[in-house]
Amino acid sequence: MNIPEIQPGIRYVGVNDRTTTRFEALWPLPAGVSYNAYLVVGERIALVDTVEERFGGRLFENIRREIGDRKIDYLVINHMEPDHSSSIDALRRRYPDIRLVGNAKALQMTEGFYGIAGPALEVKEGDTLDLGGLSLAFFMAPMVHWPETMVTWCPERRTLFSGDAFGTFGALDGGITDSQLDPALYWDEMRRYYASIVGKYGSPVQKALQKVRGLDPAVICSTHGPVWQEQIPQVLDLYDRMSRYEGEPGAVIAYGSMYGNTEQMAERLARHLAEAGVRHIAVHNLTYCDLSFVLRDIFRYNTLVVGSPTYNGALFPPVARLLEAVAARCIPQRNFAFFGSFCWAGCAVRSMAEFAQRMKWEPLGDAVEMKQGFSDDADAACQALARQIAGRIGQ
Ligand code: FEO
Repeated sequence: MNIPEIQPGIRYVGVNDRTTTRFEALWPLPAGVSYNAYLVVGERIALVDTVEERFGGRLFENIRREIGDRKIDYLVINHMEPDHSSSIDALRRRYPDIRLVGNAKALQMTEGFYGIAGPALEVKEGDTLDLGGLSLAFFMAPMVHWPETMVTWCPERRTLFSGDAFGTFGALDGGITDSQLDPALYWDEMRRYYASIVGKYGSPVQKALQKVRGLDPAVICSTHGPVWQEQIPQVLDLYDRMSRYEGEPGAVIAYGSMYGNTEQMAERLARHLAEAGVRHIAVHNLTYCDLSFVLRDIFRYNTLVVGSPTYNGALFPPVARLLEAVAARCIPQRNFAFFGSFCWAGCAVRSMAEFAQRMKWEPLGDAVEMKQGFSDDADAACQALARQIAGRIGQ
C-alpha cells in the first residue's frame, strides 16, 4: 500500500510539526500538528496548499518522492494563513513556471505577505481548471476563518480539499486517512481546534457546510489532521453542531482560586451535580488549564458554571480572560450559572451577572456568593444551585 496515494492521482505531501509549542503563538500542541498539502496529478499537476516554511524542505522531498522531476503546473491557494502559505516563495524558486491559482483576495494577500504577484490565475465561484484526466472546481468559503478562504473540488474523485475546515490538532502518526489510523484520537482535538480558531465564525461555517453537503464528497482533505473517508458523516455532524453552538447535555465548571476557597465551592458543586445525576462534568482550574481545553469543553457542553474570587475589585484575571474569550466567540446561548467569593468587598459575582447580561444569557439559579472561608452554609448554597443547574442540563 502506498499510504500517500489517497485516491488515484491524488497524493498526500504534507508534513508533521512536533516541535512548535503553540499554534498561532497561542494554542498548545501536546500531540503536534500536521500541515497537509496534496498533489493532484493529471496530464498537468496541481499542488493544493503548501506548509509552514520551516518544513518546506520536507514538503519538497515528499513531492520529489511522488512525482520525481516532473514539474508542477499550478499551486492552488485555498487559504493564506502562513502555516499554509509561507513556503510559496521557496516553491516558486524550485518551480519558477508555477502558476498561482486563487481568488482575488488570496492573490492580493500573496502580494501583501510575500511580495509575489503572478503569474496567477484568478478564480471565482464555480470556476474550473482542467488538468487533463482530472479537474478542479473552486467554491468560496469566506470567513472559515479568513476572508479569502475557498475550497477546491475534484469531481472525478469526489474529493474535497477543504482548507482548515474539518481540521484537527494532532500530528499524523503513520497513517493519513481515517481508515489508516485511530480516528478516536482526533475528535477532542477537532473540537479544541474549532473552539480555539474557528469558533467565532459559526454562521460562515454553516454556509460552507451547505455547499459541502451539496457536493457529497467521498473524501475530505483538510489542511490539518486526518484525511476523512470513513468518518465523513461524523465529521460533518460535529462541525454542524459546533457551528450552531449546540451543546450536549453536560457541564463545564471553570474557576479561579487563590487560596482554595472558591475551589472548594467548585469541587462541591461538581459533587452535588454528580449526585443529581449529571454524568458529563468537566472541572477546570483556570490558573493551570490552558484556555483552549476549556473552550473545547464549552463548545461541547450545554452548561457553563463559572467561579471567581474578587481580585483588585474585579474578576480574578484568569476568569476575566475566559469570559472575554467566550464573548469573542459570540456563543449565543448556554445554561449559565456562577459563584464567587470575596474577603472584604464582593465584586466577582456582580461582574459575572453583568457578563450574562452582555451575552444576553439568562442566568440560571441563585448565584452563590461567599465571604472569606468555605463553610457548611456555602456548601448548602452550592447544593441548591447544583440542583437548579441539573434540572436544566437534560440527559
Ligand atoms: Fe491552518 Fe487558518 O491556517
